[in-house]
Amino acid sequence: MSELLERWGFAALGAALVLVAALVNRFAPGKRSRIRRALVLYVLFVLAAGAAQVFAHLRAPAMSTWSEYTGLVAGVLAAFTCIELICLLVFDLFLPSVGIVLVKLTSDVVVGLAYVVAVFGVLKAEGVSASSVVTTSAVVSGVLALSLQTTLGNILGGVALQLDGTIHVGDWVQLADGSQGKVVTIRWRHTVVETRNWDTIIVPNANLLAQNVVILGKRSGKPVQHRMWVYFNVDFRFAPSHVIDLVRAALATAPIAGVASDPPPSVICYDFAKDGRDSFAYYAVRYWLTDLARDDPTSSLVRERIYAALKRANLPLAIPAKAVFVSQDDTSHRQEKHQRELDSRVQALGAIELFSHLSEEEQRILAVSATLAPFAPHEVITRQGATAHWLYVLLKGTAVVRVATEDGEDRQVAILEAPSFFGEMALMTGQPREATVIAECDVECLRVDRVDLSGIIKKRPEIAQGISEVLAKRRVELAAVREGLDSDAKSKRLVSERSRIFHAIRDFFALE
Ligand code: CMP
Repeated sequence: MSELLERWGFAALGAALVLVAALVNRFAPGKRSRIRRALVLYVLFVLAAGAAQVFAHLRAPAMSTWSEYTGLVAGVLAAFTCIELICLLVFDLFLPSVGIVLVKLTSDVVVGLAYVVAVFGVLKAEGVSASSVVTTSAVVSGVLALSLQTTLGNILGGVALQLDGTIHVGDWVQLADGSQGKVVTIRWRHTVVETRNWDTIIVPNANLLAQNVVILGKRSGKPVQHRMWVYFNVDFRFAPSHVIDLVRAALATAPIAGVASDPPPSVICYDFAKDGRDSFAYYAVRYWLTDLARDDPTSSLVRERIYAALKRANLPLAIPAKAVFVSQDDTSHRQEKHQRELDSRVQALGAIELFSHLSEEEQRILAVSATLAPFAPHEVITRQGATAHWLYVLLKGTAVVRVATEDGEDRQVAILEAPSFFGEMALMTGQPREATVIAECDVECLRVDRVDLSGIIKKRPEIAQGISEVLAKRRVELAAVREGLDSDAKSKRLVSERSRIFHAIRDFFALE
């Protein structure tokens, strides 16, 4: 033992322990528990070495055997402490610092093997026969294997999982009981899975291998994305092809956070009501979820799009045929309701600068023919370069006007707050849309058709003058963003634009 003590030395080992502890504390504070293990081993080593010294000084013959045993144990403990310190330096400090992070199981296997080698090394150094140790350890291993069958099964499962690399930390899995979660650690005995409900599932490794486990959204060579279904129903009055087209178009207008662009979302009519129970068809949007942690919030964004698209097209979401609504619905009640809606539309039209030149009668004509168009947050309402069919009166919410410049930049030029209007430039001049307008939140618009507006302008061509004034102001603002005009250049441009736009309107609507 004294030889061993000389070789290792309390002080050298203690100093190494302090040094590694300081490094771990500074660079890998998460690994402090391993320092504790090394410290415990070191303390046990000191105690065993002390006991060996005490036994050696008691001169009774039995005491020398005890001294040998405890000396042997001290030697083994010193070797274990060294192994722990070296592994800390290599696996927790050096390898992570050069960007290599190995799973815990790897370092555990290395430490385990090093322990075995160390035991044999110390025994050999102390002159103990290796064959007797092997025989004894084989018997002990047999007894342990029998009594720890399940635990060993789990441990071997853990090793197999690590070696064949089927499940990795970070994978989303669905277990045999249907619960889903993200793998956060694969330990010796079990794998830790965190669910979206903020729960943690401890899955014994043997179970992971024995049962069917689905790795969600994983396909070799492809990005991680998982198919989701969002259901909705529309009644039989509307053709499935029409419903499918309009929901598909609404989903394609602008990307939705968490929805993959490839493959794009698809819309299907997957069944008709069964046994004539309901009078509607069943539809589903199938999309690929890219952030598997946010399944419900992403489906909710998709539902917002579906709802707004159906509402815009005046397609109601179906209600069960057996639902009974009790409300006063006679002719006068319906007329009253219609009148109220019309009044509020007239008020909205009159409140915006563009239509302030129209008489109340003209505003009422537009209000009757206009259609209500809601949009979900982030939906594109008009796209730069598209052909215009409508202009929009913003009744509720906020919309952002963005322009793609020639150098490929996409810049915000204005934020429109209700009550406001947009989409008038292309509609009045027949040119392509000048900018892209995107709903910032839930937005409600009135869509004014070009044909209806032209009817009014043709009757009273002088309206075109006022309208061209408003149009010129906006166009100059756009030009200022695109070309960086100063205020002097802006006022000059305003004069020329006013006359140019007036002539464009006059030509487009074939005014006298
Ligand atoms: P239009 O070109 O038909 O389609 C895009 C619309 O964005 C455009 O009509 C305007 O209504 C609106 N728009 C463009 N520039 C501005 C601006 N500077 N301020 C407010 N709205 C704008």
